[in-house]
Amino acid sequence: MTIERSLVVIKPDGVQRGIIGELISRFEKRGLKIVGMKMLWVSRDFAEKHYPANMIPILGGKSLDNFKEFGIETDKTREELGESAREDLLKFTTESPVVAMVFEGVHAVKAIRKMVGPTSPHVAPAGTIRGDYAHLSMGHCTIEGMGGRNLIHASGNKEEAEKEIALWFSVDELFNYKRADEKHVIKE
Ligand code: TYD
Repeated sequence: MTIERSLVVIKPDGVQRGIIGELISRFEKRGLKIVGMKMLWVSRDFAEKHYPANMIPILGGKSLDNFKEFGIETDKTREELGESAREDLLKFTTESPVVAMVFEGVHAVKAIRKMVGPTSPHVAPAGTIRGDYAHLSMGHCTIEGMGGRNLIHASGNKEEAEKEIALWFSVDELFNYKRADEKHVIKE
């Protein structure tokens, strides 16, 4: 019940900046166990499954909020902004390999989201991955057409985690084993 699995993907910016090891290390040090791991270059089709079209209004809404915060004017609608942000995101996601992992731990989904920080790095607190390794905003990414370069994808909730793990990993790519420190950080 308390032990969960969550999908974490180091996006192309993390891979191209050469900080894969540093990012993985943060999760490992926290006691989260890697139970699946691979580098892959995702296809356009696959990226569209991971970031489905129903996220367009969410992307557009968040971009507009960000524009308001900085007094940036636009004549584009939420839908238009969301559509172009998703297109940029799909291009970004497929521009280099990514590293996909499944982590297991106590309340892992929530614990990992906290470590990753809020979507837009400009408001991510220091100590979070997005706050320590990036500073741009999602509004900036929308204006520049660069895709949301915020380093990490992490499942948002338990249901999403289950769906995403099934999309990214086959059953034989996931492993059950014990870490030596497990009795201290997870359970006996
Ligand atoms: P979302 O699910 O809102 O964020 P999170 O990754 O924190 O769960 O959005 C998914 C990804 O979409 C996000 O990581 C980066 C990208 N994105 C953009 O490219 N532009 C945007 O304006 C927003 C809000 C997100």
